Amino acid sequence: MSFARKQLPDAHTATLGVVGHPVGHSLSPLLQNTLLRKLSLNACYHAFDVEPARFRDAIRGAASLGFLGLNVTVPHKQRAAELCDLLSDEARLLRAANTLVFRPDGSIFGANTDPFGFRRALQEFRPDLRDFNALVLGAGGAARSVVLALSQLGSRNVWIANRTRSRAQALVQELGPALGEATALHDLPLDSSNVQRAVDASQLVVNATSVGMAPDVDATPLPPGVRLNPAMAVVDLIYNPLETRFLREAKEAGCEIDNGLNMLIFQAVASLEIWFETEVNLEPNFLTELRTLLTGALSSE
Ligand code: ATR
Repeated sequence: MSFARKQLPDAHTATLGVVGHPVGHSLSPLLQNTLLRKLSLNACYHAFDVEPARFRDAIRGAASLGFLGLNVTVPHKQRAAELCDLLSDEARLLRAANTLVFRPDGSIFGANTDPFGFRRALQEFRPDLRDFNALVLGAGGAARSVVLALSQLGSRNVWIANRTRSRAQALVQELGPALGEATALHDLPLDSSNVQRAVDASQLVVNATSVGMAPDVDATPLPPGVRLNPAMAVVDLIYNPLETRFLREAKEAGCEIDNGLNMLIFQAVASLEIWFETEVNLEPNFLTELRTLLTGALSSE
């Protein structure tokens, strides 16, 4: 099938979208439709707010209507993976899918582009990181993607500190054996002395919790009194606000910082590559344009 772009949607326009609950603040329609236009692809990308109780029907309906694919976001990623006939290695490992493909034979393929998104974003931010140790704050779905990506990038040790320690322990138990011997995972209580020790042994700290996200912008995921080392790289997956308190304090401590915008962009590009079975190379200027577009959308909210 040809996806060559026409001016307006026509009978060949492919349907794509994101399913979440809530989804009203999603930047994905703006981001994906901009990418589709730039790549001259004849497709439209929509946002669908679907309650968990109707998720299965919604996915079946999308398949019946001949949608090309869907992104899936909170709170549906695990359920999406369960509904798939076939999963990518990463979606199987994470037991969560953020990208669905409705195939002509009626089957559903599920992938998870979040680890790729984090990997590409980190390579963009700190291409020099090699043989490194990292501390990840959080043990939810986002943290799992980050831990997998860090292992794929060759991290030696990854410490995982979470408010609910049992979730960090479960993460280590589930992902640890699948990552092989090169990366060792360790769970930690989220307290000042344990986190300080992990910080002191790490070159990278990642916030994969939702702490500090708007509107709760005065919160920080770091326990009180923890000092960051100026040589370290600090990433917050949050992009609203663009600079969280955690990133602001890391910058004040002399660290290099990055927010979650590039991860958002690269996971979106990876979804598009899966749907259209094509490789997309983002030129640096276009990446900057996308960041400016998203930043503008965030500031006008
Ligand atoms: P996601 O899929 O985005 O990762 P999630 O699975 O709900 O979402 O995970 C949210 C993460 O933020 C968890 O690590 C959560 O900690 P708990 O496992 O203890 O719930 C963390 N988080 C959310 N609110 C927090 C808070 N006020 N203090 C500390 N951690 C918090």
